[in-house]
Amino acid sequence: MRSVSLTINGKPSTVDVDPATPLVWVLREHLQLTGTKFGCGMAQCGACTVHVNGEAIRSCVTPVSSVAGKSITTIEGLSADGTHPLQKAWVAEQVPQCGYCQSGQIMQAATLLAKNKKPTREQIVEHMNGNICRCGTYQRIVKAVQRAAKEA
Ligand code: FES
Ligand code: FES
Repeated sequence: MRSVSLTINGKPSTVDVDPATPLVWVLREHLQLTGTKFGCGMAQCGACTVHVNGEAIRSCVTPVSSVAGKSITTIEGLSADGTHPLQKAWVAEQVPQCGYCQSGQIMQAATLLAKNKKPTREQIVEHMNGNICRCGTYQRIVKAVQRAAKEA
């Protein structure tokens, strides 16, 4: 066990954990930030996507010690009140089915719009390619990203 200092959604916190613990479990179990989901545990599905220093990463394969001192953003911190353009577009397009993959989808999409305000359909599809949705909501995801890009 070791104390690891983290900055999550702008707030500092310290957790006492095995430094090899994947970030997803620290978020969910230690900090009760359960919006980040565990899917495959092998960087294959994207359900666990969060931002570290503005980049989308797979928190299931990220040892917590590797993000000490970095700025981590989870779905809970994407906006103060759920009004990020993507969150509004997700509601407007009624994207989720079961919902399990969706926070990871939104976090992945957010890094695209942060760098490219007007992505083409192809760029959206390519950027979202590694995020799996077992319910097959892919078409609505693309529409929601396009809507958010228009309204941002
Ligand atoms: S749970 Fe992390 S990529 Fe699937
Ligand atoms: S909405 Fe069910 S897995 Fe994506």
